[in-house]
Amino acid sequence: MKKVLIIGASSAIAEAVARLYAQRGDHLFLTARSPDRLQSLIDDLRIRGCPQIFGQPMDANDFAAHAAMLERAEADLGGLDVVLMAHGTLPDQAACAASVELTLNEIRTNALSVISLATLVANRFERQGRGTLAVISSVAGDRGRQSNYVYGSAKAMVSTFLSGLRQRLFKAGVAVVTIKPGFVDTPMTRDFKKGPLWAGPEKVARGIVRAIDRRGAVVYLPSFWRGIMWVIHSIPEFLFKRLSL
Ligand SMILES: NC(=O)c1ccc[n+]([C@@H]2O[C@H](COP(=O)([O-])OP(=O)(O)OC[C@H]3O[C@@H](n4cnc5c(N)ncnc54)[C@H](OP(=O)(O)O)[C@@H]3O)[C@@H](O)[C@H]2O)c1
Repeated sequence: MKKVLIIGASSAIAEAVARLYAQRGDHLFLTARSPDRLQSLIDDLRIRGCPQIFGQPMDANDFAAHAAMLERAEADLGGLDVVLMAHGTLPDQAACAASVELTLNEIRTNALSVISLATLVANRFERQGRGTLAVISSVAGDRGRQSNYVYGSAKAMVSTFLSGLRQRLFKAGVAVVTIKPGFVDTPMTRDFKKGPLWAGPEKVARGIVRAIDRRGAVVYLPSFWRGIMWVIHSIPEFLFKRLSL
């Protein structure tokens, strides 16, 4: 049995992960910014057999609430084995290009809030000498593209931060898992036209749980995205800047 904290638990991907943990009898502490949504998630997971489940509403941009939430999660669960961070927003790139304020708000939600929480979790796990921190980053962080470079740069910051954290915490017996999904059919991508590269949240959730169990490092979900991003990353800049991706 694992004691699992899921931050941003109302995300479609996180909900699918929580169901898998509930089914196998793990204990859960969830945070989501909507109290009603949080309560309905908790009720549903109880019905699905989760033996112990707690929660607290939290806006990830309320930085002052981060430490107290972690204290409470650890106290309610009686310890922490796994922390998964899933919250995020997909910015309107054109609107961000026209607004510094909007751009910085998106960076705050998608990068700075994650870095604040990851720092606090890392220090706890380092002290206890075990634990797994998993964060949903994105393939979008592998290379800035004109269509979504605000989101991409926030995810790049997260991925690079986690890379450093992984190296530091390995020596303390703590695993840091960077999860890089490709296109996933969730409310975040509601308006996008779907095609063969798209995956459902349940498939991605199974990959996340497997990666956490194996204490993986950088995981592309589905795995073919590693190859796609290798190709995109390999395009020389003189050519890349002429493309419209
Ligand atoms: N879908 C994709 O194609 C895709 C691809 C790569 C990576 N990802 C990443 O996967 C993660 C999960 O996204 P998803 O696809 O499952 O989309 P989703 O269902 O739209 O989930 C996003 C979640 O983030 C929450 N959130 C946003 N801002 C928040 C804040 N300030 N405080 C707390 N929660 C906040 C939202 O809460 P509310 O319900 O309250 O709005 C929502 O539950 C995100 O980090 C996303 O960037 C998604």
